[in-house]
Amino acid sequence: MFSDVCMRKVLITKAGPPNVLKIVEEEKLVPNRGEVTIRVHFAGINFADLMMRLGIYGKQAPPIPFTPGYEVSGIITSIGEGVTEFEKGQRVAALTGINGYSEEVNVPVKQVVRIGDDISFESAAAMPVTYLTAYHMLVELGNIKAGDVVLIHHAAGGVGTAAIQIAKAFGAGTIFGVASPSKKDFVENMGVRFIDREKEDFVMVVKKETNGAGVHHALDPVGGKHLKKSFKSLRSGGKLYAFGGSSFVSGPKIFKPTALWRLLTSPKFSPLNMIGKNKAIFGVHMGTIKDMDLMREEIEALVLMLNEKKIDPIIDSVFHFEDVAKAHFHIHDRKNKGKVLLDFTN
Ligand SMILES: NC(=O)c1ccc[n+]([C@@H]2O[C@H](COP(=O)([O-])OP(=O)(O)OC[C@H]3O[C@@H](n4cnc5c(N)ncnc54)[C@H](OP(=O)(O)O)[C@@H]3O)[C@@H](O)[C@H]2O)c1
Repeated sequence: MFSDVCMRKVLITKAGPPNVLKIVEEEKLVPNRGEVTIRVHFAGINFADLMMRLGIYGKQAPPIPFTPGYEVSGIITSIGEGVTEFEKGQRVAALTGINGYSEEVNVPVKQVVRIGDDISFESAAAMPVTYLTAYHMLVELGNIKAGDVVLIHHAAGGVGTAAIQIAKAFGAGTIFGVASPSKKDFVENMGVRFIDREKEDFVMVVKKETNGAGVHHALDPVGGKHLKKSFKSLRSGGKLYAFGGSSFVSGPKIFKPTALWRLLTSPKFSPLNMIGKNKAIFGVHMGTIKDMDLMREEIEALVLMLNEKKIDPIIDSVFHFEDVAKAHFHIHDRKNKGKVLLDFTN
């Protein structure tokens, strides 16, 4: 039960498997100047949270112990000094950075957006990170055009499904989606050419089905040696977005040698080779972008697309926040098709 004096949140108590996640209680929050307090309804789980919990997210994660959670939806319960843009009781979504796995969170107003009454809190919590990442790559950096051919890895996941919807909204041509075999029907039902990540060579499939040309955009969150293959699948003028290191994770337990090995065997790209081939590589980390005005512009464009039903977040599952360890295991087991959320309503 939500209390008048205390609130509960999830804490990463030490680096390790999902059971290092504990529920703790603390005093209710008071917003600082320029912030609002949000009574969280749902918090999105991102793959990066798993990497932070494993202690392999590097300097981009705060020191443990801390509360993870990049994104939430909920209702504003308190307004900090100097805030004129919001009122108590408004329905919002927010990019929190950390601290989202919590009944309450304080967020600077620039990172908060209002959501329409017909948008569910679940959809709103599923959107900020995944859609923003996909939009930033395909639209802001990639300038995606009608007819462009797109290759998406982890196509059934959070960013994957967001990228498919955004690419389609901008009139993309063929979209190739790589995922585990159990997700074939799910991916095909989104109108995507499914590629089995276990049995098929995605470079060969893509080259064959584009008459040898390759794709305009390749979204690669796998990292390591895999980037070289994604680079190969580009056509002349194509763009590769390197935005993750899922291959650094070998399971729910810490196994640093895998992460280290993947890091050491990551390819080095030569600018001369890129000039000769007319190919581009973008490194993307949404958490380190300092331009909050750009972020706001992008998130507002996405809220508009959401309100106009041009995008519609796919929710795989919702776990009560006390079952957060089960939710992390679910993603480690590669079971999710769409976004996994934590429920803080009760
Ligand atoms: N740079 C950024 O700013 C940014 C922002 C958001 C996300 N990302 C990255 O984008 C990727 C997707 O993120 P997401 O939050 O949307 O997660 P997600 O795709 O929903 O993550 C789960 C899926 O990833 C695939 N996967 C690949 N390697 C895995 C492993 N070692 N363990 C478990 N699953 C693995 C599985 O799908 P299949 O089995 O079908 O492959 C799994 O179902 C992650 O690498 C994440 O770090 C980067």
